[in-house]
Amino acid sequence: MSTINLIAIDGPAASGKSTLAELIAKNLDYFFFDTGVMYRAVTLAALAQINDLDDETKVTEVANRIQIDVQAASKQDGRVMDILVDGKDVTWQIRTPEVDFNVSKVSAYAGVRKAMTEQQRRIGERGNMVMVGRDIGTVVFPDAKHKIYLEASPEERARRRFVEVQNRGESTTYEEILASIRKRDEVDSSRAVAPLKPADDAYVIDSDDKAIDIVLKEVLQILGKSVP
Ligand code: DC
Repeated sequence: MSTINLIAIDGPAASGKSTLAELIAKNLDYFFFDTGVMYRAVTLAALAQINDLDDETKVTEVANRIQIDVQAASKQDGRVMDILVDGKDVTWQIRTPEVDFNVSKVSAYAGVRKAMTEQQRRIGERGNMVMVGRDIGTVVFPDAKHKIYLEASPEERARRRFVEVQNRGESTTYEEILASIRKRDEVDSSRAVAPLKPADDAYVIDSDDKAIDIVLKEVLQILGKSVP
């Protein structure tokens, strides 16, 4: 078992990983780091800098060239942290449907994953961190002290995402969201490098019939922390 105090939380898109990780981090006074933002930042930069995202070599060059920084939130506009690419604030640009649509392709490239994995390891070495992603417990930190794999059915995840999107006043249908989640699941789980799957020693939680506070209590108990 590692001496690095790192809690790895993996799972499919919209399974509630980030919400759970934020709550754990708050309870333990740990740093919360969502690695999905890095793949989103590479996708955003690639969309801006090259015209063909099917060109793996060029996308990998972008991943190696750009400087991604994560800092404490500088504004109170709903953000959890600031995401900077080459010094520019891209916190909200990385959440557009265009990035959503292309990010699975970009994150399947081996060279992109190598570059991001190296950066994530360097950040994680600081310890006292809840790190969220798809491959944290399997590849990035296989010796993490604690590993949680949070899953939920595609229908339940689409339902939750639909409520969020409606609350933001955006016009998408439940069916569109469900189709997009299914597609991302398929790409994320079937890629050759670091596919989405639970680590052998991960604690798997199915959150279909569980509210987030129940899941939080369960996790804090696993971590041996007192439950609020
Ligand atoms: O969690 P998210 O939706 O922000 O992740 C965006 C994409 O990045 C998703 O398609 C999977 C990918 N990703 C990954 O491959 N490995 C990670 N550690 C985190 C995210």
